[in-house]
Amino acid sequence: MSPLNVGIVGTGIFARDRHLPSYQEFPDKFKVAAAFNRHKEKALDFAKTANIPENKVYDNLEEILKDPHVDYIDALLPAQFNADIVEKAVKAGKPVILEKPIAANLDQAREIVELAESTPLPVGVAENWLYLPCIKIAKEQIKKIGPVVAFTHNSTGPFVTQNKYLTTTWRQKPEHIGGFLSDGGVHQLALVISLLGEFGSVSALTRQVRERSGADDIVFATVQLKDAEVIGSFTYGSAFGATEKSVFLKVYGKNGTVTVDLSDKKNPVVKVKLGGSAEDNGDEQTFKVDNDESFGVNAEFLNFHEAVSKKDKSLYLGSPRTAFHHLACVDAFLKSSAKNGDHVKVEQP
Ligand SMILES: NC(=O)c1ccc[n+]([C@@H]2O[C@H](COP(=O)([O-])OP(=O)(O)OC[C@H]3O[C@@H](n4cnc5c(N)ncnc54)[C@H](OP(=O)(O)O)[C@@H]3O)[C@@H](O)[C@H]2O)c1
Repeated sequence: MSPLNVGIVGTGIFARDRHLPSYQEFPDKFKVAAAFNRHKEKALDFAKTANIPENKVYDNLEEILKDPHVDYIDALLPAQFNADIVEKAVKAGKPVILEKPIAANLDQAREIVELAESTPLPVGVAENWLYLPCIKIAKEQIKKIGPVVAFTHNSTGPFVTQNKYLTTTWRQKPEHIGGFLSDGGVHQLALVISLLGEFGSVSALTRQVRERSGADDIVFATVQLKDAEVIGSFTYGSAFGATEKSVFLKVYGKNGTVTVDLSDKKNPVVKVKLGGSAEDNGDEQTFKVDNDESFGVNAEFLNFHEAVSKKDKSLYLGSPRTAFHHLACVDAFLKSSAKNGDHVKVEQP
């Protein structure tokens, strides 16, 4: 089968630094074949790097959607534009994969879920953390410590003043709810929810630590899962002063503990301790996880390829319904914090 021709919409930082290299790793599966960006000179520059001919750099969205050689659209835009792109892509009969978060707010996210569920075309959200290799290993181990009763998720780190993403104006003045809390937080939520299940309700406090974040940038929450008696805590923020990066999920069962530690991005580990009590305390086992430079993006693209080429949208893991839930958790954190930590139910699509 010849490679799928990808039309990139939004040729910014992540298109250049991650999507393009990931596509280029699989030349038999993908060809980055066309591009559109609102400032055309940036798309032309991207096209040079990606080997896209100039006549495939389009002046507007309608033209790239009309190109019969483009097999699907890969959109990397500020989240408030996602609903519009999905509507137009579905009308044009093109599958579309959107960068996370699914949308800027729950109303737009609901529109996307409805559009996606009303078409046989694959409409996916690029939630690369759904594809982290640690998830498969941790899932196997979590089965051994059951029943699970509680969890602690912590993702904290220092504010990085030279962060390339901070320079983007749409992040400095976010239209997407929670700013960095939804921009980065949906990743953490994807990990926790993949392993433990959906959040039912939350009690949270959020704060803005850095003016440059544009909105609240830290959250400390307690959580009750939807379909179980499991309770836990969810902490997220990279706006602190000097501190080590600490990213881990610790899952407590009646028969042991599983810890997923992603603090060292290049050396993720899953640790397991089996036993039902202090007296029955087994040795800790450590499972090394393969280092995935793409942090799940390669696997996510291969999964989307499968859904598009087999014309079966159900094969793709990052469905709009799944991504809706991640954004709905952020929405619930913010609503709870506005009520000084009252318990708030996570909304459904
Ligand atoms: N999965 C991950 O780990 C990850 C990491 C980073 C980013 N992302 C996602 O990737 C997407 C792009 O982020 P980025 O960091 O690459 O940001 P970026 O460099 O600012 O790229 C954003 C793109 O959207 C375009 N854009 C901005 N405002 C627009 C508007 N009003 N109308 C039309 N186009 C507009 C920009 O065009 P101009 O250049 O012409 O302004 C640019 O091409 C976002 O959805 C982000 O959440 C995901």
